[in-house]
Formats: sequence, structure tokens, C-alpha cells
Amino acid sequence: MNKQFAKDIIEGLSSERKTLSSKYFYDDAGSRIFQEIMNMPDYYLTNSEFEILSLQAKQIIEAVNYNQPFNIIELGAGDGFKTFKLLEYLVNNHIDFHYVPIDISQGAMDELTKKLKSKLPKLSIHPKVGDYFEILSKENVQTKIPSLLLFLGSNIGNYTKKEAKNLLQLFNNNMKKGDSLLLGVDLKKNPITIQNAYFDKHGITKRFNINLLLRINREFDGDFKVDDFDFYCHYNPVNGEVHSYIISLRDQKVVLNKLGKSFDFAYDELIWTELSKKYSLEEIDNLARESGFKTVNHFLDCKHYFTDTLLVKH
Ligand code: AVJ
Repeated sequence: MNKQFAKDIIEGLSSERKTLSSKYFYDDAGSRIFQEIMNMPDYYLTNSEFEILSLQAKQIIEAVNYNQPFNIIELGAGDGFKTFKLLEYLVNNHIDFHYVPIDISQGAMDELTKKLKSKLPKLSIHPKVGDYFEILSKENVQTKIPSLLLFLGSNIGNYTKKEAKNLLQLFNNNMKKGDSLLLGVDLKKNPITIQNAYFDKHGITKRFNINLLLRINREFDGDFKVDDFDFYCHYNPVNGEVHSYIISLRDQKVVLNKLGKSFDFAYDELIWTELSKKYSLEEIDNLARESGFKTVNHFLDCKHYFTDTLLVKH
């Protein structure tokens, strides 16, 4: 049994405003549903970041400006689809670097390694499975060559402003002076565009959320009846926050046998599942400065929907 997950469920479902954390979305089924989300045209984030890394790889590497061999350390590499374009550019231009993808999923790392070895046989790849920070402190501080860290896909959006600052400070503490961080961030834009990316008409994002209830049923012998729950989300253009929720469609009790606990849900009661925060370029600069970085450049897609912002530790 995953003790931390159990603790978080009990705490989240016992509180006045119920919550379940999006960090538990990504079991095998959830990861597959997230792939479906990334393939939806309405989920513009994927295409925007793919465009940036495809068309501006040269500019990004020139801005990084390491005139010696370096590491590219990717935090939460996943399937590495976007990163491929950057790696391909470097390999084709005979630039000397080592690619170190890090992910908690052994399966994801095995697949990525296999795919990259066949597509880019000349790539020097050293995958690592496990916790970011442990690996980062070993891999990076102990090598003399500079590192470019990648934290892509707007994963930073799942953190509150304060948490995001703590996370970037933690990255910073594990970096050497002159190391860089390429940070993928979704930008504030027409609220209708954002709303459509998260409240999709195919119901894929709904399935992504409801899968969390199914996961709890599987792992804790629960009896969530998924037809008695729905999905809602809302983008607030003033603070840039998408909040996603599961709605209880009736008064109901849910038993989690393995935890020996039950939880009551009122008619129309909400469970908050996810924060997806959107930023302005100015907010990113401030966040970077407050966590020990200097902004080198914002690399935007042609629609200005998304940025891969290059930061340097000074
Ligand atoms: C993987 C956290 C970047 O918030 O956009 C997609 C997850 N949630 N649709 C995001 C997600 C709903 C995604 N991140």
C-alpha cells in the first residue's frame, strides 16, 4: 500500500473543502489518458511547445552558450516526444553533450531509451529512475561540466506561486553557478482558448479525473460509483488559474475497505483535483529572480501561447 497516497486521500476527503491531488493522476491508465489529452488539438500546449523546440533549437542552444561538453538533464522526461527535436538538432550538429532523462517511471524510461537509441544511435544517453532531487544532487554537483536542466510541459503550473518558488529554489540549490534551466510555461491568453483545452467536449479530461476514483477503488478496495460523479473546471483570467473538480451527483457514502474508512459526499459537493496556473512573462521573470535565476530569454511559439524560458543560475 502507498502510505503517502493513503494519508493524502484521508486528509483530502476529511477536510471542509474536499481535495484529491492531481499528482496521483498518473498511474498506468492515467498516463495513457494524459497521452490522449496531449493528442487533442484543443490541448494547444503540446503543439506550441513542440513548435518552439522544433523551430528554435538552434537559438536556444546558442543562448545557452556552453563552449564545452555539457549535460542535458530532463526532470520528468516522460515519453520525451517534444525533447526529441532538441536532441536531434544537437546530434546532427555534432555538439558534444550527454542526455540524462529522469523519471519516476521505470517503464517510461525503458521506452524512451529504446526509442532514442534507434532514432539517434549517436546519442549519449544515461537514463535515471527515481526522485529528481536525489539524482540531481548526485549527478550535477559532482560533475565539473555545465548542465542544462529541462522542466518542460508547463508542469510548473500544478504548483501554487509559493510552491513554484520553493521548487525552483530547490532546483537552484542543486545547480552550479552558470548552469541553465529551460522552463516550459503556459501563458495567459484568451480565456476561451484555455477553457476549451481543459473542459474538452470529448470528455477526455473528465475521464482523466474520474480515473483517480477508479485508481482509489483499485488500490484501496473502494466503492466509488463513477457514474455518480461528474467533472467541472473553470479558468479565472484574473489570477490565471484553472481549477478542476469532481462533482458528487448525489448524497452518497463511499467506503474504502483497505483504509477502514468511509466518506460522505453531499449532493453537488465538489472535490478539487487540480490547479493549472497560467503566467505572464513578467510573472515568470519575477518568479525566476525570487528563486536565484536570471532570465536569459523567452522562446515563444508563433501564437504566443506558450514559452520555453531560459534561466541561468548566477
Ligand atoms: C501535465 C500538469 C501540464 O495542467 O495542463 C492536462 C495536466 N490536466 N489536462 C496541465 C492536465 C488537465 C497538465 N500538466
